[in-house]
Amino acid sequence: MSQPRQTDHAIHPLFINRWSPRAFTGESIDQPTLDSLFEAARWAPSANNSQPWRFIYARNGSAHWPELLELLNEKNRAWASNASVLIVLVSKTTHLRAGSDAATALRNHSLDAGAAWAHLALQAEHAGWHSHAIGGFDREQARTLLGVPDGYQVEIAIAIGKLASRDSLSAELQAREQPNQRNPLHSLIAEGRFSFQA
Ligand SMILES: Cc1cc2nc3c(=O)[nH]c(=O)nc-3n(C[C@H](O)[C@H](O)[C@H](O)COP(=O)(O)O)c2cc1C
Repeated sequence: MSQPRQTDHAIHPLFINRWSPRAFTGESIDQPTLDSLFEAARWAPSANNSQPWRFIYARNGSAHWPELLELLNEKNRAWASNASVLIVLVSKTTHLRAGSDAATALRNHSLDAGAAWAHLALQAEHAGWHSHAIGGFDREQARTLLGVPDGYQVEIAIAIGKLASRDSLSAELQAREQPNQRNPLHSLIAEGRFSFQA
């Protein structure tokens, strides 16, 4: 087991208690809780308040579940098959500003979608659920299967679930099933000028 997560400075416990497990029970998530995750994401900040995030989801066992699960690469599918919900996060790449009839490109659509994902993940932790972002999936297949039109970028998949015993995982995944650590704070911040190690 690695050391428990510790911060150098006092922060809300949500930030270090959130982690990305792979052992999920597959149990059903109630609609108000699921809605609360999207509600938290909805209140993320975005450039021009453009709110480019869109969430396409399927519950485990629903008609759409096999399609979303199929998008994941094999390694991710092995554990995410026991999630309660799979979400594909897409972002709108253009924005119609108030008073304009021509859409302009949104430079920060992915950044803003990332902020929404972080809100969702923290709300999941707050509600006693866990989330796990997944970059290992077929974005082109997602576009086709889910009917994502031009003008939207497929960003990440997200698994939501309740924590199960790590024994439910393969030996390889059991070894990784624990909260990980972070780089030291001093290596991330610089006053006034870029002065980081390569
Ligand atoms: C954009 C993104 C893509 C990720 N892709 C995967 C993935 O394909 N498979 C996986 O098991 N974990 C994936 N992760 C989870 C990261 O490995 C994890 O967030 C990171 O190690 C930090 O650990 P923590 O979330 O437990 O704090 C992804 C996370 C992010 C934010």
